[in-house]
Amino acid sequence: MPATVSIHGQWSTRLAFILAATGSAVGLGNIWRFPYIVGDNGGGAFVLVYLACILLIGLPIMMAEILLGRRGRQSPINTMLTVAREEGLSRGWGLMGWIGVLAGFLILSFYSVIAGWALAYVFKSGSGGFIGLDAEGSSEMFGAMLASPEALLAWHTIFMVMTAMVVARGVRSGLERAVTILMPLLVLLLVVLVGYSMAQGEFIAGVQFLFQPDFSALSANAVLLAMGQAFFTLSLGMGAIMVYGSYLSSEASVAKTSGAVVAADTLVALLAGLAIFPILFAAGLSPGQGPGLIFVTLPLAFAEMPMGLYFGTVFFVLLVFAAWTSAISLIEPAVAFLVENLSLTRVFATTLVAMFAWLLGIGALLSLNVWSGYTLFDMGILDLLDYLTANILLPLGGFLIALFVGWRMTERSVQSELRLKLGFVYSLWYFLVRYVAPIAILVVFLRAIGLV
Ligand code: TRP
Repeated sequence: MPATVSIHGQWSTRLAFILAATGSAVGLGNIWRFPYIVGDNGGGAFVLVYLACILLIGLPIMMAEILLGRRGRQSPINTMLTVAREEGLSRGWGLMGWIGVLAGFLILSFYSVIAGWALAYVFKSGSGGFIGLDAEGSSEMFGAMLASPEALLAWHTIFMVMTAMVVARGVRSGLERAVTILMPLLVLLLVVLVGYSMAQGEFIAGVQFLFQPDFSALSANAVLLAMGQAFFTLSLGMGAIMVYGSYLSSEASVAKTSGAVVAADTLVALLAGLAIFPILFAAGLSPGQGPGLIFVTLPLAFAEMPMGLYFGTVFFVLLVFAAWTSAISLIEPAVAFLVENLSLTRVFATTLVAMFAWLLGIGALLSLNVWSGYTLFDMGILDLLDYLTANILLPLGGFLIALFVGWRMTERSVQSELRLKLGFVYSLWYFLVRYVAPIAILVVFLRAIGLV
């Protein structure tokens, strides 16, 4: 019989869980990754596929992941082993937890590098670096930062230490507090930026780019990227949401909670898109800027708007916080596992994981400059880590979760853990988990490698 409370602690209220899960979901994925991938993939049609993936794959899998975490009440690996044992299934399902721990570790390594860019921009903005900036100057400023391994290393190191410090302090005292005030503030500031976009940018052109689908621009690979983005932005497929679910009280509604997290996450991504594209078009920049998109575009707005110095600085501070609350959830599964199985202290386990991720992150940041000549499939280390995790490991993890909950667990256990009234919502969810999500993931995979 698994414990009804995790040894690592429990959220004080359901709202605390929603905030923490939202903190995990909302991060660089929404504000940095979403706009640039949309820009690279032609806009509207991509956004539509992304939204479909969020609703048909992301939301049901999030519920499945929380459900599993709450049933197992441990790190993803031990949760999978425990639930598999209870259901009389193979220990092989523990592998799913291992994929998750690996994916989280790999994501953290490059996530910290990008968060380091945001940190650097806090200081660029605060010292008046955006004043009088034009499109060309903004691109140069970004390029100069990427060209300096020392600067990237310094910011990457600071961010990794910040992350490790919160995780080391534990779930309640560390994770909960960081989110409560900062998330709403971030949304507020995005709304201000959208307001600026409406007044000063090519707002209509931005809206058209985001929402007018042109399916001829959509390749099979773009569909894979849209699905990968859905997993990445919702923190799904690697046990982050599972481990947060393991700290959720038994009474909370999994469905309502997931709905709230998904809605908040999608809102932030769309707001970011609405803020960025009108400014971009007004400045005559192309949407396919790649990973530098927001770092090249937003300073232009801050350069012009009244009190731009303050808005810019606060914006990047909030972006760092959003990244921080996400990064925390990337190491939590590995740390929880080390504490459970090797009886390491929380502090030591955190230090260990953060240190290895930091080392790999150095490889990622060097791929932006010194090692830019070394590529595989046309990608440097950073791009490879990003592609492998978001587009392959996370959907694979999600696929296994859907199979496990949809096909291997008995429906009785599923129902008793979900505690959803048997009715339309339940039936729809079960159908999505059993059929729609796994089949969709499989088809997208097969199409991307050219098999269907
Ligand atoms: N969802 C976060 C973002 O959008 C990143 C993230 C945090 C994540 N934890 C995760 C991604 C777990 C995948 C899996 O920035």
